[in-house]
Amino acid sequence: MSSSPSSGWRVGRGSVCYPVMSEDTGSSLFRPDLLAGRVALITGGGTGIGAGITRVLARHGADVVLASRRREHLEPMASEVAQLGRDALVCQLDVRDRDACDAVVAQALDRFGHIDLLINNAAGNFLVRAAELSEKGWRAVVDIVLTGTFNMSQAVYPALRDSGGASIINITTTYVGSGAPFMAHSGAAKAGVLNLTRTLAVEWGGDGIRVNAVAPGLVEETEGARRLAESIGIVDAYRKQVPLGRLVTIDDVAATVLFLVSDAASQITGVEITVDGGESLGGGFKGISDALDGIP
Ligand code: COA
Repeated sequence: MSSSPSSGWRVGRGSVCYPVMSEDTGSSLFRPDLLAGRVALITGGGTGIGAGITRVLARHGADVVLASRRREHLEPMASEVAQLGRDALVCQLDVRDRDACDAVVAQALDRFGHIDLLINNAAGNFLVRAAELSEKGWRAVVDIVLTGTFNMSQAVYPALRDSGGASIINITTTYVGSGAPFMAHSGAAKAGVLNLTRTLAVEWGGDGIRVNAVAPGLVEETEGARRLAESIGIVDAYRKQVPLGRLVTIDDVAATVLFLVSDAASQITGVEITVDGGESLGGGFKGISDALDGIP
């Protein structure tokens, strides 16, 4: 894949062109000051999808609170945010620990005085047969993904209520709508997050808090892609099932988050937007298509 930084378009597989975030302004579609004066708290904001979301929110004017288990993952992102002219607070946090969530919120309010956006992105996953999944492994993933999302949402709720126009984005996944073979822990937890998204959208709508989910397919250049696809050599097979012809990028996911937290989505709450190039719709369409092509 090649890129053309000046044009803002990238050439993908089969010469498909698609828009990308410009390096300095963030996006050609949204004003650079879209989120000026806003503070966003991003769990797992130092790496992968979380880093991409942090970058795009900061490029559009938000100050950020970066919270994750490994401080060393957060410091480089904080420097990048500073270079963009925005302020970043780095907090070590395990979202499974409710008291620690409260402490992060207190630090953030101390530093910024308000929190307007919460991105529940922290997650854990690994491939394992359900019959072989240990209780500890089940608990680790369900507690990070589902309980962690609840913990953080509940901890930030009073601040979001005071924000007057707040938004929560939960990162889910495409396999909540199907089964999640070899990811029973993650599938069950993410399905719970989707239901929680809808519940909180209703309960907190009157407080001016919108709650939405973004469901990526396989996102290239992430830990998830490494663990769930590259490690077992199925990336190309997966890519072939994507009707739009390429894997999702971190920028694709971040752009959808940006849209959902923006005023362009001010009447959208309780929805899940899938970002997967149509992959989850096809039911193995490429295999069928290839077979049909082989029939004279
Ligand atoms: N295969 C099978 N079981 C595994 C496993 C694997 N690859 N990785 C972890 N487990 C199970 C083990 O049973 C372990 O218990 P054990 O120590 O008795 O063997 C249990 O999970 C807990 O693992 P541990 O590493 O102690 O928990 P943790 O809280 O530190 O880590 C995980 C959480 C398990 C989710 C870990 O993989 C992680 O930190 N991942 C973060 C990044 C990530 O997953 N990103 C991808 C998101 S799509």
